[in-house]
Amino acid sequence: KVIYRKEYQVPAFLLERTELTFELFEDHAVVTSQLHLRRNPEADSGAALELNGQELELLEIAIDGRELAPDEYHRDDELLTIARAPAQCVLRCRTRIHPQDNTSLEGLYKSRTMFCTQCEAEGFRKITYFPDRPDVMSVFDVTIEADQALYPVLLSNGNPAPPEALANGRHRVRWHDPHPKPAYLFALVAGDLHYVEDRFRTCGGRDVTLRIYVEEKDLDKCAHAMDSLIQSMRWDEETYGREYDLDIFNIVAVDDFNMGAMENKGLNIFNSSCVLCRPDITTDAGFERVQAIVAHEYFHNWSGNRVTCRDWFQLSLKEGFTVFRDAEFSADMGSRTVKRIEDVSLLRTAQFAEDAGPMAHPVRPDSFIEISNFYTVTIYEKGAEVVRMIHTLLGPDLFRQGSDLYFERHDGQAVTCEEFVRAMEDASGVDLSQFRLWYSQAGTPRLVASGHYDAGAARYTLTLRQSCPATPGQPHKEPMTIPVALGLLGTAGNLPLRLADDQPGGETADNTHRVLELSREEQSFCFEGVMEAPVPALLRGFSAPVTLEYDYSTADLCALMSREADGFVRWDASQQLALRVLSDTQGQLAADSAVVVEPQFLEALGALLADPDLDPAMVAEMLRLPAEGYLAELAAGQGGADVDIIHQARQMLRSTIASAHADLFADCYQRLVTSAPFAPTAEQIGARSLRNMCLDYLALDGAEGLQLAQSQFDTATNMTDRLAALQAIAQHGPDQQRDAALARFYADWEQETLVVNQWLQVQAAMPVADALERVRALLAHPAFDIRNPNKVRSLIGAFSNANPVNFHRADGEGYRLLADIIEQLDSRNPQIAARLLTPLTKWRNYRGRGEQMRAQLQRLAAMPTVSRDVYEVLDKALA
Ligand code: ARG
Ligand code: ZN
Repeated sequence: KVIYRKEYQVPAFLLERTELTFELFEDHAVVTSQLHLRRNPEADSGAALELNGQELELLEIAIDGRELAPDEYHRDDELLTIARAPAQCVLRCRTRIHPQDNTSLEGLYKSRTMFCTQCEAEGFRKITYFPDRPDVMSVFDVTIEADQALYPVLLSNGNPAPPEALANGRHRVRWHDPHPKPAYLFALVAGDLHYVEDRFRTCGGRDVTLRIYVEEKDLDKCAHAMDSLIQSMRWDEETYGREYDLDIFNIVAVDDFNMGAMENKGLNIFNSSCVLCRPDITTDAGFERVQAIVAHEYFHNWSGNRVTCRDWFQLSLKEGFTVFRDAEFSADMGSRTVKRIEDVSLLRTAQFAEDAGPMAHPVRPDSFIEISNFYTVTIYEKGAEVVRMIHTLLGPDLFRQGSDLYFERHDGQAVTCEEFVRAMEDASGVDLSQFRLWYSQAGTPRLVASGHYDAGAARYTLTLRQSCPATPGQPHKEPMTIPVALGLLGTAGNLPLRLADDQPGGETADNTHRVLELSREEQSFCFEGVMEAPVPALLRGFSAPVTLEYDYSTADLCALMSREADGFVRWDASQQLALRVLSDTQGQLAADSAVVVEPQFLEALGALLADPDLDPAMVAEMLRLPAEGYLAELAAGQGGADVDIIHQARQMLRSTIASAHADLFADCYQRLVTSAPFAPTAEQIGARSLRNMCLDYLALDGAEGLQLAQSQFDTATNMTDRLAALQAIAQHGPDQQRDAALARFYADWEQETLVVNQWLQVQAAMPVADALERVRALLAHPAFDIRNPNKVRSLIGAFSNANPVNFHRADGEGYRLLADIIEQLDSRNPQIAARLLTPLTKWRNYRGRGEQMRAQLQRLAAMPTVSRDVYEVLDKALA
């Protein structure tokens, strides 16, 4: 059944208060609710009371103390309807559920020894009958009763009252959350947990107790998350004026979790992979991820909880804004340019692909079948880009005024994306009416730029043209407002900018930076006083989520790479140059002719490696060739991708770079040796990243490099260096060295689940001939467990997304393997099953493979029962 945004109706009843009691037992739980209901004055006065509920055993239902007769309510698989409820009443309801058997990891379930919940988006309805929609908000009083020895810690949202001992070794804790919230922000945890504690004093003088709850063995892995939390709280006060609003803030780490983490009010629940850190088991990327996700969930306290979504079509209201907030936080904590590069890489590989495929949808979708399928890179990452563009168009000061107005105006409300844009408009006076199209139009806009230099008039004219491809249900698109940040590069640096019809004064002191607003299909911008033919540096900082075409010469790209002021453009020029070289190489391989690599490209890379004054983190990013998945995505638009040629071309280019610059890589590797004790600081992370990039090229170049990798593997004391060495050996080493290193790594870390998951991932991504057989064998290894989403992602997700030559094996076995797993998972955990389908939905992109991919989709569609989640993806992919 398809749900449409335009069919939104206000709830018939509002909730004044919710009282919940949970009695937890080993084979079931009983949930008792008392809902203090009141008819919504804004709803149709005859509308029925509707309560959502799934897989519930109803034990009792009463209104104002009187048990309902069977003909006073109606019940189906999803809804309990009471046609004539009093305008004001207390509905009492008892249900029995079985958290121990809940494999969907949605609602109340058991992860190892603890009970926990995941209610967003529609999990609460698997706990009890309830108006499970984000625009029904209430104050919650929660009582939890459980065995005292097995579950000494009982947590929920808000503040606790002192615990009470009960008969039979049981105990009880009551929690009160004074902030009205929708059911999706409810949380409960019960387990034998230990905690790390710290404090934070807010700008308004509130003393907040901060706790991170984990299993005892993980107590020494919480320090970084706690630091990150404190940094986030301070940053949100300083940057957005947002103060925390309860006396306690709890985080709990859970091993079995469908997503990264969840922002439940005052009780954030985290996938343990997104909170636990220790230098010997966590890579730098892991440290950065923990910092970003802790911040993301904390920032939701305002952008999501205090101001929430009216309905799930507005999901990007909280997710896009919060991703933008956490990205800016990470940029402030570490390297701004590198953070931007990482985010744009994700956007280009995953989001542009989604926008060009069968699942394309606007940032504010018009319809869905299963909302869980819409926690997408479009809602999150493109949504964040849309907020970033507003920030660019308004400037930081007006943007802050807009966000202040938004929070003030809508505190305690459930609102829409429209309210967010309106607050930005009202505070700034900027008209965003055309800009709103970014919320309603799917697809990645295409920007074509061309320049004309008139030496006699010292005038440079830049012409920009926009278009947007058709997407499912949207054949025709209107031109949008596109902020194009730019500079003009001359031989001695960036040139001062003066537009012909200009008001005096620019945006930087030296007047070399502008943001142009493209709003028509085609527009020309005329710069005066340009004394030499410039190279345009377009989309500085990636000012809009678009593809850009400009006919740069190789020399232009080299100039941008070495002299442009904007770090993002410098990196982007290196990528464009690499793409050009890769496409030449592919052509040469396909034509069976000799491969010749553009010397200017090799020279430019050599210059980067030789310059010790450059930022190592930037150099590492510029040496990283575009991923095979991205190359396939680009080729899809040009007659279909040939995975084998793409892989060969990329490998060949990497080998050529490795041997051309063997000495520079070795020098650079040695130069970056440090004796400083490990710290996940931007400076150290940058140095390690370039050093390990050098190691990878060195190992690719031959025995000497492999030896270096082996010695780094044997002596490394932090996981970043150890895993990088393992990866270099696994990717480039001879079988024996590789298998020995993998065995050693497993023996060392068998007891640390998160490290074992990395080990699974390395093997799943190895481009060796028998990778698929290895993955099949690992499915039976004690380290694997299909019930745990992290393990499924590490093995199956990595195989199908990060091992293109093996996933796309000519015999179709890669596709069959993925479909086998999805078939097994669909009845257990539909959310994960649907997510795993993504690579198969791209069947139209692959030359010579599409039919085999499609056959597996059809096989899944023919299963006797298909979850709603998987059904929706199959339906759209096969349409
Ligand atoms: N709101 C969470 C976050 O982004 C994610 C929840 C995902 N839930 C789901 N059913 N997919 O921080
Ligand atoms: Zn979020």
